[in-house]
Amino acid sequence: MSLPTQNRQWLTTQSGISNIALSSSSLPSPGPGEVLVKIHAVSLNYRDTEVIMGLYNHHSTTGSQSSALVPCSDMCGTILLSNSPRFKTGEKVLSIFNQTHLKGQVKAEHMKHGLGFPLDGVLQEYRVFDAEALVSKPPYLSDEEAATLPIAGLTAWMAVNGMRTLGQPGGKGEKVLIQGTGGVAISGLQIAKASGAEVIITSSSDEKLELAQNLGADKTINYKTNPEWEQEVLKMTDGEGVDIIFENGGAQTLRKSFDCIAFGGLINCIGYLSGKEDAMGDRTNTNVLALRRNVTLKGLLNGPRERLEEMLKFYDEKKINPVVDRVFSFEEAKEGFEYLFKGGHFGKVVVKVD
Ligand SMILES: NC(=O)c1ccc[n+]([C@@H]2O[C@H](COP(=O)([O-])OP(=O)(O)OC[C@H]3O[C@@H](n4cnc5c(N)ncnc54)[C@H](OP(=O)(O)O)[C@@H]3O)[C@@H](O)[C@H]2O)c1
Repeated sequence: MSLPTQNRQWLTTQSGISNIALSSSSLPSPGPGEVLVKIHAVSLNYRDTEVIMGLYNHHSTTGSQSSALVPCSDMCGTILLSNSPRFKTGEKVLSIFNQTHLKGQVKAEHMKHGLGFPLDGVLQEYRVFDAEALVSKPPYLSDEEAATLPIAGLTAWMAVNGMRTLGQPGGKGEKVLIQGTGGVAISGLQIAKASGAEVIITSSSDEKLELAQNLGADKTINYKTNPEWEQEVLKMTDGEGVDIIFENGGAQTLRKSFDCIAFGGLINCIGYLSGKEDAMGDRTNTNVLALRRNVTLKGLLNGPRERLEEMLKFYDEKKINPVVDRVFSFEEAKEGFEYLFKGGHFGKVVVKVD
């Protein structure tokens, strides 16, 4: 088989979306235990826009990356060359986010192996991976759909199942509140509904709430026209509150989550779409808020390979098709990041590489 000699890649100096640049390097070759992958589709995450804008600074354990970096972490591709018994040439694979996080609790060491920061990422035509840092792609999914799963899908899976025993997913009959209609949120809606849970979803847009209803959302709340949305959640649950919350908003939403979580519930602290800094003022301490309802407040940091494999088995059984809002060409990657950053999407935004 004749291989190309060049590899086109997008590079960021973490100085803004307008400054990302298309560049070219020589084709990398795999060492022992490694594979060369031809990348077909890359799905964009909120984190990628933060890295590109130099704003990804809330993890002290990731280390830093001062030279130009290939952004993005989530890809679907095909093995071109394999130096590992784990995969054969021609097999389709997905990346895992923290390349060394294969099982159990994430540790500081794993954070130094994040794709797209601090390691070079996947917005390029070819990349060498340690074979251990890849999983098989479920055959029923398109490349674009499958590329959405390593971060958005797995984070949502961990929010529903991460506190349960591996291999024993649950959720049936539970009430789940999901904030927003971005990548993690819509993956969460699909997973929670396929698990038999009841889902309440919030959005700033009635049109997006209608789309969420079409995907099975049981109840919807517009958080812009209904700023006291936590009271609505209580009304919708006969005053009990919800069992699981996807806390995607952060600064402006966490307090409200504490007011509509059920006793003994689980608040998954996932994102900070409404800001990272708490507003000043006389506020009840977060510890007291957790105590009042005997709540487990869990900081969520994606998940290990074993959980991604558990999730892919579930997707395959339930034949869940991730929601791809829009696909951009490789040359249009900049427009893709801008589109994602504006937040007009419902579900995932993907770059088709080949
Ligand atoms: N901890 C982890 O492992 C992990 C993994 C992935 C992502 N994250 C974080 O989780 C968050 C979501 O990531 P994503 O990739 O799903 O982002 P995304 O696709 O860019 O989500 C954007 C959507 O969030 C919603 N949103 C914005 N402000 C909101 C608010 N104040 N309250 C509720 N929803 C709001 C909007 O939905 P509407 O337009 O419907 O209002 C917006 O369209 C980000 O902060 C990201 O960094 C964390």
